[in-house]
Amino acid sequence: MLNEATIAIIKSTVPILKDRGTEITKRFYELLFSSHPELLHIFNHANQKQGKQQAALANAVYAAAAHIDQLPAILPVVKQIAHKHRSLGVKAEHYPIVGQNLLAAIKDVLGDAATDEILQAWADAYGVIASVFIEVEQSMYDQAEGQDGGWEGFRAFVIQKKVKESDVITSFYLVPQDRKPIAGFEPGQYVSVQTKLPDDGYTHIRQYSLSDAPGKPYYRISVKREDAIGSRPAGKVSTALHEKTNEGDVLLLSAPAGDFTLNRDDKRPVVLISGGVGLTPMVSMLNTLVETQPHRPVTFIHSAQNGSVHAMKEHVNRLAQAHPQLSVRYCYAEPNEADQAAGTYHREGYVDADWLKTVIPSTNSSVYFCVPQPFMAVVNSALKACGVADSDLHYEFFGPAASLEQP
Ligand code: HEM
Repeated sequence: MLNEATIAIIKSTVPILKDRGTEITKRFYELLFSSHPELLHIFNHANQKQGKQQAALANAVYAAAAHIDQLPAILPVVKQIAHKHRSLGVKAEHYPIVGQNLLAAIKDVLGDAATDEILQAWADAYGVIASVFIEVEQSMYDQAEGQDGGWEGFRAFVIQKKVKESDVITSFYLVPQDRKPIAGFEPGQYVSVQTKLPDDGYTHIRQYSLSDAPGKPYYRISVKREDAIGSRPAGKVSTALHEKTNEGDVLLLSAPAGDFTLNRDDKRPVVLISGGVGLTPMVSMLNTLVETQPHRPVTFIHSAQNGSVHAMKEHVNRLAQAHPQLSVRYCYAEPNEADQAAGTYHREGYVDADWLKTVIPSTNSSVYFCVPQPFMAVVNSALKACGVADSDLHYEFFGPAASLEQP
């Protein structure tokens, strides 16, 4: 436990560190990767370049520090991060490395303002925060390894089938190379895929939501090929998966993880809202709902640029025909000529509160959403404007978690 004086120092310095947060974390990563280049096999290089991961880690450390005397209050956030860490293979021995480099970065950036007393207080606070993460993650490792079909680390899976779902999304059906059982999962969870790319020699790890219902002899992931847009380079891993892997090739997977999961005890209407490749966890939830809760009303809302990038449409339409409790609504930002001719979408433009009010069956619904990052805050506030309670809103970000506050 930290003493009162240490807690007071931490609380009074959090705002200063937040203020200089970008500089500190930039310096932290420089120090971390120069002293421990092996960590470049774990961290996402693209997120590093875009500064996304810097912001995520820094914000989490400051949020934890601000709650240093009431850490149980932030356990849900710790668990969400811990799921990601567990799926990446972050281990207890990594924490002191991160801690030492974070302190060194604070010292470098704050200079004389970082007194020995302040540095010691942050070292103590980091130790307390790290031990909470280590404990939560250890129980997740034990659980992943201990469950039927579970495993530790990365396990070899063979690509049994590759199926093109749209111009940009392809599904991969993955079966374990050892032909032993595979762990169950909750709809909404993801797996990490570890690949080695020939051009840089590093292993790269990416998370992909499982896109089919649990209980199958395979895992299915559905990957969007991230093409270069403007100054943003093409996604190395997604491009390699689309273009360089074939049926019969092997991918390494860690066991399913994630806390964005369908509550299967809830019997109220459920609304699933996705945009683009955000539909992957939603299709897993949808398939599970029609299989296991055939009387539960489901509204499936999907937005896409147009019909050519709208994945799994035939599948969802087939389900809607077979299940009267399922209603589907498609929203195209810019329908193409074929879409206009076929008239197979319900709205042109984007999801907003006025439209949602007309399609959500009841405000007493459970809502799950996963849309591209710029639309997350918009959809969240539109749902609130429709009268959906905060406790009924469940969401997942693409990539590192961020804030839902509107800028
Ligand atoms: C991701 C916080 C320690 C490696 C994250 C995220 C946060 C975070 C908030 C983003 C989660 C998300 O995307 O949903 C923290 C905190 C730590 C800590 C507060 C210390 C108390 C570590 C350690 C390692 C590590 C010790 C291993 C060296 C990673 C990696 C990612 C990650 C590789 C994913 C990065 C990416 O894909 O861009 N962490 N972390 N973290 N963390 Fe940590």
